[in-house]
Amino acid sequence: MADPNEPTGSLPASNPGATPVSASEPLLRLRGISKHFGAVQALYGVDVDLPSGQVTALCGDNGAGKSVLTKCIAGIHEPDQGEMFWEGRLVHIRTPGDAAALGIETVYQDLALADNLDIVQNMFLGRERLSRGLLDEDSMERAAAATLASLRVTTVRSIRQPVATLSGGQRQAVAVAKAVMWNSKLVMLDEPTAALGVAQTRMVLDLIVRLKDHGLAVMVISHNLNDVFEVADRVAVLRLGRMVAQDQLSAFDRQSVVDFMTTGTSTRQVTASDATAMKD
Ligand SMILES: Nc1ncnc2c1ncn2[C@@H]1O[C@H](COP(=O)(O)OP(=O)(O)OP(=O)(O)O)[C@@H](O)[C@H]1O
Ligand SMILES: [Mg+2]
Repeated sequence: MADPNEPTGSLPASNPGATPVSASEPLLRLRGISKHFGAVQALYGVDVDLPSGQVTALCGDNGAGKSVLTKCIAGIHEPDQGEMFWEGRLVHIRTPGDAAALGIETVYQDLALADNLDIVQNMFLGRERLSRGLLDEDSMERAAAATLASLRVTTVRSIRQPVATLSGGQRQAVAVAKAVMWNSKLVMLDEPTAALGVAQTRMVLDLIVRLKDHGLAVMVISHNLNDVFEVADRVAVLRLGRMVAQDQLSAFDRQSVVDFMTTGTSTRQVTASDATAMKD
């Protein structure tokens, strides 16, 4: 496994998610994941596959369990039941450190960055490079600049600029760049465009496509169906803690996604269980 303390410095040119497992094996496979908080059952036996080189959109109404599922994968919540297979191997992700060691990075809408720190400091926060006991500012600056350049993030004026002075889209771009700098294989974005204007949303959607083009698995949570239909290869719909549909984007239209989100079924399209049965 790649050393999580050694950033790649830039997005690799070829598929970093390439694995020795069979092509049909997704990078991450979740089976029967359940999670409750006291009396609230947030997830009921959720199955989901996150393949490399594809964007999976996780859809669902408020409270459906999207963030809880993301946090189970990110090592913030430990599921009560269920199994996770990483590159076909059973894994236990109990802490954010376990997730980072596998190559899982999460971009949260608000919590991602420290406002008072500059871009380089944010990208290396908690994983600073040292040289003879001192911070190696030059090498961190070069790696941060190379990563931003590889993602074609060109609107940032100075990487020594405090993050508080960035636009919402630039902040998202820095958070994504931070995620890819650490040898990530899976990047999860929870509502990355919720607070963004049109041009900034465009920039973040372009970034998401660039991540998958470089072979990463991407999971994106979005309430915006225009965004979903623009960037997703696959769609997974949660309703009240249950996975009610999961398939290639082409199996859905906007109305069927809304139907699944609100009623758990759709007359227009097959359900996840029907789709599985049809494949058997
Ligand atoms: N730490 C927690 N303690 C107790 N209940 C929680 C906790 N986190 C989430 N829940 C509950 O789990 C359910 C799923 O919440 P979650 O945050 O995953 O929803 P979501 O799909 O992300 O919704 P939204 O679109 O509003 O962000 C909700 O009923 C929520 O109240
Ligand atoms: Mg949420």
